[in-house]
Amino acid sequence: MITAVDVIRTKRDDGELSTAQIDWVIDAYTKGEVADEQMSALAMAIFLNGATPREIADWTAAMIRSGIVLDLSGVGRPCVDKHSTGGVGDKITLPLAPLVAVFDVAVPQLSGRGLGHTGGTLDKLESIPGFDVILGESGIVAQLEEVGAVVCAATGDLAPADKKLYALRDATSTVESIPLIASSIMSKKIAEGADAIVLDVKVGSGAFMKEFSQAKELAETMVRLGGDHGVDTRALLTDMSVPLGRTAGNALEVRESIEVLAGGGPPDVVELTVALAREMLAAAGKPGLDPAAALNDGRAMDKWRQMITAQGGEVDAPLPTARHTEEVTAETDGFVVDMDAYAVGVAAWRLGAGRTSQGQPVQAGAGVEILRTVGEQVRSGEPVFRLHTDTADRVAAAKEALSGGWRIGAVPSDRGPIVLDRLLADPDKP
Ligand code: URA
Repeated sequence: MITAVDVIRTKRDDGELSTAQIDWVIDAYTKGEVADEQMSALAMAIFLNGATPREIADWTAAMIRSGIVLDLSGVGRPCVDKHSTGGVGDKITLPLAPLVAVFDVAVPQLSGRGLGHTGGTLDKLESIPGFDVILGESGIVAQLEEVGAVVCAATGDLAPADKKLYALRDATSTVESIPLIASSIMSKKIAEGADAIVLDVKVGSGAFMKEFSQAKELAETMVRLGGDHGVDTRALLTDMSVPLGRTAGNALEVRESIEVLAGGGPPDVVELTVALAREMLAAAGKPGLDPAAALNDGRAMDKWRQMITAQGGEVDAPLPTARHTEEVTAETDGFVVDMDAYAVGVAAWRLGAGRTSQGQPVQAGAGVEILRTVGEQVRSGEPVFRLHTDTADRVAAAKEALSGGWRIGAVPSDRGPIVLDRLLADPDKP
């Protein structure tokens, strides 16, 4: 007979859990037969002692089996999903999903809400008046057939074990563990039923993984898990030491995404959107296409309009703006040489763009606008940031988060490359 205490003791003493132990503990936890305090202890033991590739594979498979797997076989097109491990100003899903759908590839983007300093795609899209993020399985399939792209909340019955465990990890400081992050992300993604998955694994101060070596290990673990389940999985490792683009905050990021869809927008956002689109198209068996052209000629914008309208969004309605804005100015002449993603993320969060506990409302208009970014010249007294909030008394805390998070130097420096590495499960594929 397997008991929770035995499973915890095995891992506490740095032993290896058997497949039967893992299957049992995930199933029993999902049903409420293993208590939260027992799962917390087990998560901490895994956090401290790690897990073998076999244990991670079994843990992921058990979490997938805890719920349903979406059946997208009726969609009639290859289905490719993108997942980002989360960052500051990471609005890439917004232009990317319609862009890839232009090429007759279905993009089911089941997304999450922001927690902490990283924003959530659903919170961003909900700043569009009327936009509905709750679609059932049949609604998702219907929209993929009609439009080709959908961005909505994951249905409650996909990997329910992960849903419970993720909330517990958040409350017990056991999030930043490669086995637990890899199994959490891949169980949800595999349960979404896509044929291929492209991972955007972030590296740097604004990411879970601050070091390149950790991010690479996470990416390798996830690519292997996808391969184990017959899903073509590939990963780009991308820079998150500097915020992406010039905005962090819900409606602010929607506005910037629309600029990208209109053929403009910040170069780093365009570069990453196009790099991920190329990867998704290659994974769908369509290598060598030119996604950048579809941003410039209006096809991606047309698809965005269809997608927003299909989900009830008023595509031409003005986006919400914050009631109060305030600028942060440079104290010397020079060039912006540093812009710490984490500091900007925390500032946006404190202004009201994010939440401190699940279920809290967010301010649609709140966030940080970056008026001068890395490499750009600024004169003393000129604004570097514009802070947006509905609650002016939050500004002091946001300024405090930013202080020390950016620097002006005498010599201009580059932002550095966005895409740092690329990993494929099958290196022979394009
Ligand atoms: N995102 C997830 O879905 N799970 C994690 O564990 C971390 C980030």
